[in-house]
Amino acid sequence: MHADLKSQTRLLRLSLFLWAATPLVDLFLLALSGNLGANPQETLLRSTGMCCLVLLLVTLSITPLRRLLDWTELVRLRRMLGLWAFAYAFIHLLGFWAFEHEFLWSAVLKDAFKRPFVTVGLVGFALLIPLAITSNQWSMRQLGARWKTIHQLIYAVALLGCIHFFLHRAGKNNFFDPSVALAVTVVLLGLRWRWRRPRHH
Ligand code: HEM
Repeated sequence: MHADLKSQTRLLRLSLFLWAATPLVDLFLLALSGNLGANPQETLLRSTGMCCLVLLLVTLSITPLRRLLDWTELVRLRRMLGLWAFAYAFIHLLGFWAFEHEFLWSAVLKDAFKRPFVTVGLVGFALLIPLAITSNQWSMRQLGARWKTIHQLIYAVALLGCIHFFLHRAGKNNFFDPSVALAVTVVLLGLRWRWRRPRHH
């Protein structure tokens, strides 16, 4: 039974890896064939932003799912999913730097002081960096209990991602997608808060 769960986790891990990689391969192929639509830069920024947020939320749902399904092995998926979220955030930021600011970091920083939506995005990205750097066994061992505290930053990143999404949509008055993302984040945070103490029975 145990070995069975192990191989199921391995299969799920491979499937989720392919699922997470698909949009990137897709964007790459569409870009190569010139099929990114009328505004390729916008397509690239929007899809990488969306992928980052979805992957953050999927990463956050691992712990509650582990508990609900009593499937501890699921923890093996968390790092991979979190690193994919980071990869999409990084490409999203590189796209912004390249397309909106002609490869000028100083212009990106200036923009961060001008537009709150950029500020919030950048803070979210900055908070993801320590998580990506410390998502390995060595850091886990070195940091001990502090590792868990640091990695709770992922909730802040997800909330900032939602605020960034709302601010981005403010000009368009279309808040449906950001509201769904926020609702999922709040439910996941609520579960964490409810389950913050270990079970006694
Ligand atoms: C954790 C970090 C981040 C997350 C989760 C995130 C997520 C998102 C999401 C969900 C969208 C909207 C996509 C849509 O409308 O379908 C978006 C758009 C955008 N983001 Fe981010 N973002 C992050 C960081 C950043 C950073 C660091 C920057 C640049 C400094 C940035 C710049 C943009 C821009 C310019 C757009 C608008 C694209 C357009 O409509 O042309 N984001 N982001």
